Amino acid sequence: MRVGVIGTGHVGLITCVSLAEVGHQVAGTDSEAQKIADLQRGEAPFFEPGLQELLHQTTESGRLSFSCSAATAVADADVVFVCVGTPARASGEASLVAVEAAARDVARHATGPAVVVEKSTVPAGTSLSLKRTLRRERPDLGGRLEVVSNPEFLREGHAIEDALHPDRILIGAETDHAFGVMRRLYATFVAQGHPIIETDIQTAELAKHACNAFLALKISYANALARICERAGADVVAVADVMGSDPRIGRAFLNAGLGYGGYCFPKDIQAFQRLAGRLGYDFPLLSEIARINQEAVTAVVDKIREALWNLEDKRVALLGLSFKPGTDDIRFSPPLALARLLREEGATVVGYDPEAAANAKGELPELELAPDPYDAASGAHCAVVCTEWEEFKQLDLVRVRDALAYPILVDGRNIFEPDQVVAAGLSYHPTGRPPVEP
Ligand code: UDX
Repeated sequence: MRVGVIGTGHVGLITCVSLAEVGHQVAGTDSEAQKIADLQRGEAPFFEPGLQELLHQTTESGRLSFSCSAATAVADADVVFVCVGTPARASGEASLVAVEAAARDVARHATGPAVVVEKSTVPAGTSLSLKRTLRRERPDLGGRLEVVSNPEFLREGHAIEDALHPDRILIGAETDHAFGVMRRLYATFVAQGHPIIETDIQTAELAKHACNAFLALKISYANALARICERAGADVVAVADVMGSDPRIGRAFLNAGLGYGGYCFPKDIQAFQRLAGRLGYDFPLLSEIARINQEAVTAVVDKIREALWNLEDKRVALLGLSFKPGTDDIRFSPPLALARLLREEGATVVGYDPEAAANAKGELPELELAPDPYDAASGAHCAVVCTEWEEFKQLDLVRVRDALAYPILVDGRNIFEPDQVVAAGLSYHPTGRPPVEP
């Protein structure tokens, strides 16, 4: 099938390569000329495992192309994906300006009937405005530009894997024709055993917000438990294991630490709360999730202060700057929030990250960067594990201890076993678990 993709960010570009990979003819477009120039040269504009290779493969095969012209992407397309950003307004509400502009682009350039897919996360009800815009702009196509909601559930760092092997493909549509087109588009995935869930459009839109808010709720629940465990002398990892052994709860997303970040959870939870408010339902649980998430960062500052006494004139090494491993994304990154708070308290902050260092420096120019974790630790008064990159789990802890000015390791992601750290001669300050001295 011929597929157009408007917006080639994290969602759009992965949509492009995965649909081209299963044999569709895909044309991507973006309003950022630099991004398209990079893609035309075969360069992925952000880091994602496997993306560069798949981009190369699908563009070489001739099934994937990029252009600055929306007309090229939209004309003759059977399906057009809207994958533009929906950033938060000052009020927390999702801004749908780019979605409306994309709808107008589709209307302007469509040469015949097409299915227009909302892939970006949007508040329930957006499809109605989308439909109205398409009809107003193209009365001649009289409703044959059909709207479908097909939210993405990709995790950064696993995006290719998630796109090629989705847990489920959620499709919200109104007509048999639209469902039929989407079933055809995803036929290869379905043949491989990946299920499609079909709903009405509003349900699909809302389900995406419901999933993200619930996952964030689990994380904040674990972080609130961590605060209580710290006071009670209990171990939050063991508590999460007990909870997780109940299949009704599940162990996933119960890891206490520095909390969630990234471009989805913080923004989507705010937008979901605004949507609820607009619909006349007060949903304070959502703001409580966000509050506990901020507290997860201040709790680490408190831990560092407790270990180092005054923070003025102290040097703190942050291991990990991205919001999670496997990505160079630093948007709403808890490690950067931590760096800011530490600096406000007078500490010097040095950071190391295998992928996100340059982005972090762009966001926080005062941050010193180190070329490796041992360099970061060198002369620092404590090291803080902020992101659970695999390479940190393999650290030579004796070398870390020798490099540090004070032998203190704060673990904001609980990646180590206490015995292992203490055996290396470090005092260990995990999250929601009792601290241990050598
Ligand atoms: C998320 C959703 O998982 C995905 O389905 C949706 O499409 C986009 O948002 P992503 O933001 O890539 O994906 O990251 P995810 O792996 O879900 O992690 C989100 C954040 O939660 C990260 O900062 C991570 O470090 C944190 N996290 C996750 C925890 O703090 N504890 C956990 O137990 C799990």
